[in-house]
Amino acid sequence: MAQAHIIKTKVGIVGGGPAGLMLSHLLAKQGIDNLVVESRDHETIRNTHRAGILEAGSVQMLTDTGVDGRVLTDGDEHAGIDLRFNGESHPLDFKDLVDATVTLYAQNEVFVDLAAARKRDGGDVRYEAEVTEVLDLETTTPKFRFTDKDGTAFEVHCDILVGADGSRSFCRRAVKGEQDYKIEYPFAWFGILTEAPKSAPELIYANSPHGFALISQRSETVQRMYFQCDPSENVDDWSEDRIWTELQKRVDGADGFQLKQGPIFDKTVLAFRSFVREPLSHGRMFLAGDAGHTVPPTGAKGLNLAFADVKVLFEAIDSFYATGSDALLEGYSDLALQRVWKAQNFSYWMTSMLHTRTDASPFETKRALGELATVTGSRFGQQYLAESYTGWPHK
Ligand code: DHB
Repeated sequence: MAQAHIIKTKVGIVGGGPAGLMLSHLLAKQGIDNLVVESRDHETIRNTHRAGILEAGSVQMLTDTGVDGRVLTDGDEHAGIDLRFNGESHPLDFKDLVDATVTLYAQNEVFVDLAAARKRDGGDVRYEAEVTEVLDLETTTPKFRFTDKDGTAFEVHCDILVGADGSRSFCRRAVKGEQDYKIEYPFAWFGILTEAPKSAPELIYANSPHGFALISQRSETVQRMYFQCDPSENVDDWSEDRIWTELQKRVDGADGFQLKQGPIFDKTVLAFRSFVREPLSHGRMFLAGDAGHTVPPTGAKGLNLAFADVKVLFEAIDSFYATGSDALLEGYSDLALQRVWKAQNFSYWMTSMLHTRTDASPFETKRALGELATVTGSRFGQQYLAESYTGWPHK
């Protein structure tokens, strides 16, 4: 085998999704040399549809750090949501409840902005590069090996290695014997993109006897919608008519609410689980975003949590280079996990309250409706949801 080319950098980042690129951007701005290695190509990531809700803190990370202001012009500020159950709408006004809003801006747009910013600023981001090994994690020179798309082998020597390589993280799986906390759900989401006008001003989260539905948006002319389905569902079995009938059933009510339909141009089944790796570090390797934890999508915490990790990790790395002390690096996992577990609780709670389990007893189904009535029926209940949905302050 040919000798691997050695690359020396301060921070080696495995994973060029939003978490890896945001960290790379922040470090570069601070003059901290770094390299990002990503297995997919730019187009594939750009066309991977994920959630679309950004907390104010995440929006600020894009705008205040000079990534791009496009989130403010192309994003859509939302001051509330509609919780629909028993066929009735229950609007929640976040602005009034907790003086906060969220911004609808698709995750693939966040990726496009970050990738463009790295390119603009001369960042070293290698796409289509497969990491094959991580090594020496317990030393002060952790390393990883990767092969680029031409088959050339490289070995990266760094001070700090970051695993931001998504839910199937190579970096995480390279470390054995740590604690993994997880639960599976007996359902998935069927997601569509449709060329149609908005059905309602705010996003609708619907609990119905037929299962959960989420009526989200992308623009004035493109909408994103999901409905709870079996994880083994095959998109090819779903005609447009069948999809619209299923979605409409889940938002039906005495008020006669009707979805605005249009041609469907994307269909995907999204499986999910709740997962946390503890700790989020191993020697000089640190996990960020989905590599360290994943949440079910209800409430759209995934990207926001990844950005919150990156903020804490960036401050720790910055302090390491400024002072020579690794105290903040050592505290990274505990600090990041505080927010992770709050988001785990919120995402689990929203998911279980809004979805219908096929194995649920009639008691359980009624109890969930009691919970929805409790939350929407008082200002305290509404505030609890609004505070979590819009995001707790960054530490
Ligand atoms: C979207 C996805 C979510 O999981 C959510 O809670 C809100 C919006 C979306 O894709 O638009």
